[in-house]
Amino acid sequence: MSQTRPSSDPVEIDASDPLRLHDVDHVRFYCGNAKQAAYFYAWNFGFQVEQYRDLTTGSRDTASYLLRQGNIRLILETGLTADHEAAHEVVTYGDGVKDVSLTVNDAEAAYEQAIRNGAESGYEPIEETDEHGTVVRAAIRSYGRVLHTFVSRKGDYGLNAVRSGGRFGPGWEKVDHFPLNEYNRQNPCGLEFVDHLVGNVELGKMDHWVEWYSEVLGFKLFKHFDEADISTEYTSLMSKVMDSGFGVIKMPINEPAEGRRKSQIEEYLDWHNDTPGVQHLALRTDDELHSVHELRRRGVNFLKVPQSYYDEVWKRVEALGWDVKEDHEKIADLGILVDADDEGYLLQLFTQPLQDRPTLFFEIISRRGSQSFGKGNFKALFEAIEREQARRGNL
Ligand code: FE2
Repeated sequence: MSQTRPSSDPVEIDASDPLRLHDVDHVRFYCGNAKQAAYFYAWNFGFQVEQYRDLTTGSRDTASYLLRQGNIRLILETGLTADHEAAHEVVTYGDGVKDVSLTVNDAEAAYEQAIRNGAESGYEPIEETDEHGTVVRAAIRSYGRVLHTFVSRKGDYGLNAVRSGGRFGPGWEKVDHFPLNEYNRQNPCGLEFVDHLVGNVELGKMDHWVEWYSEVLGFKLFKHFDEADISTEYTSLMSKVMDSGFGVIKMPINEPAEGRRKSQIEEYLDWHNDTPGVQHLALRTDDELHSVHELRRRGVNFLKVPQSYYDEVWKRVEALGWDVKEDHEKIADLGILVDADDEGYLLQLFTQPLQDRPTLFFEIISRRGSQSFGKGNFKALFEAIEREQARRGNL
């Protein structure tokens, strides 16, 4: 069964804080053809294609599909006219994440507070109401092309109703015939919520955005990795993790660092019109082996981990005092990465890019106490990524 984040519910809240975040409301993608992309994410990752908004429901400028799994909600959106922003952005960046949307008590108050804290407006408050309830949205601009939309929900559109599959808001209709939904219910992939969400920013801009998240949204620095942590012979990066508090969302921010060859961050920026954006979404599962097995069965391509990785990994985790309970042979067969810190261990694996450009990918992660991000795997991961970059002629 799906779980929410341990502390994502409104307990111990300072209700007067307009920037108190309750959840990742949804992650919105701009796509060239959302109708077809919905099949890709439904088949490969087991999402339910639940609701839609398009010409038939009165949406004249966009077609949107709400995909849900556990407490993960993705909106795939396409512009229907040549002058729509989504159409321009798909030309410029390819398919990818436009908006990391956050649920708050009062979207207008959150927006105004964020603007007072120094944010630039994405769009001003929009209120949509029908006989079932009200949804208010307003957005600020984050790095590059990314927005954070604040969403507040009332009536039947409340967060708890939406978490369990209720109508998403005015204008959304339930999909009534999508046979893959039944298949996915019978063959669950086990993805539960967005564990973290990583942004790539330009060289020298990491600290700027770390400060921005701190000043505008009240995030705190969670962990600090520098290039000494994350480097191979050829490439390196710097990363700082910003934490929203209350376990809602962690947002690592990467910038490229000097290396002999092109880093994965630079490759991303090259293919993303030299513009910062979301590099990966980490989706949490409680059963890494099941999830990765099921995703592989469905045809998801993951980064290839050399078998030699497993010669050292168990010793590395044991040295930190942890015994990996999951079947070691199955972990190696499935090519899953393992890392540990002083709080426990984690299992993780990264997909190949989810679209033709080498930009956005997913991470599938399971935590056994560890609250870090797989620092010990960066070297193994980057060596694997570099082999893929070389195959594309981009190293
Ligand atoms: Fe990650």
